[in-house]
Amino acid sequence: MSNRTPLMAGNWKMNLDWKQGLALVEELGEQLAGVDMSRVEAAVLPPFVDIRTVQTAVEAGSLPIAYGGQDLSAHESGAYTGEVSGSMLKALGATYAAVGHSERRQYHGEDEAVTNAKVKAAFAAGLVPILCVGEPLEERQAGNQVEYTLAQLRGGIEGLDAADAKQIVIAYEPVWAIGTGEVATPDDAQEVCAAIRGALREQYGPEVADAVRVLYGGSVKSSNVAELMTKEDVDGALVGGASLKAEEFAKIVGYQG
Ligand code: 13P
Repeated sequence: MSNRTPLMAGNWKMNLDWKQGLALVEELGEQLAGVDMSRVEAAVLPPFVDIRTVQTAVEAGSLPIAYGGQDLSAHESGAYTGEVSGSMLKALGATYAAVGHSERRQYHGEDEAVTNAKVKAAFAAGLVPILCVGEPLEERQAGNQVEYTLAQLRGGIEGLDAADAKQIVIAYEPVWAIGTGEVATPDDAQEVCAAIRGALREQYGPEVADAVRVLYGGSVKSSNVAELMTKEDVDGALVGGASLKAEEFAKIVGYQG
């Protein structure tokens, strides 16, 4: 048993306007009243335009829900039209920022250099990056999932010191399991999550490796989360579709291990 606190993070993607987001967070707060929140952490990653509202609801209700961005700019401030900085998120009480989600890599051409710059920008702003890594189907079929994912990991954390590395959250999200209903088996998830921790151990030593939370993401639901969580190196989940319903996401947070 590790002493890492599991993290269940809901990535809303481009869903829910601020009113819908408000309704979801308030309902989630009610649902989580029945969950022992001393053993698990819950977070939501809403669209940027919802975050102020989420902050207000969380503070007003003292809800046990952390929140953050689905992305952030690699830059601190300035002439970067359309971008949102880490310090802007921090000013809204955000804890986390997802970085390098496969949809950012695929649709916005974000490569290792951009991802690495965003990881560093998150730390510079006092946010915890959730660095997303994971292989596409053809790499899995070729048996290259570990090698491919570790290359993304090493690129994403390049140049981080041990103090930052110890705080980071890594989300292993095999691309073929995202939004497809095809969840990785617990053994598949464990294989790559263990390899991620092994790479961190090699680079930073056991103290960092044992502290970092490695999440699994890809078609996680209340019906499959408990089995995934039995695995030694799986410390939580990054949840897409199933985080859009309060009752379902609360069941994931309150999984029975
Ligand atoms: P789904 O849970 O909808 O498969 O999405 C996973 C994901 O991409 C979370 O970031």
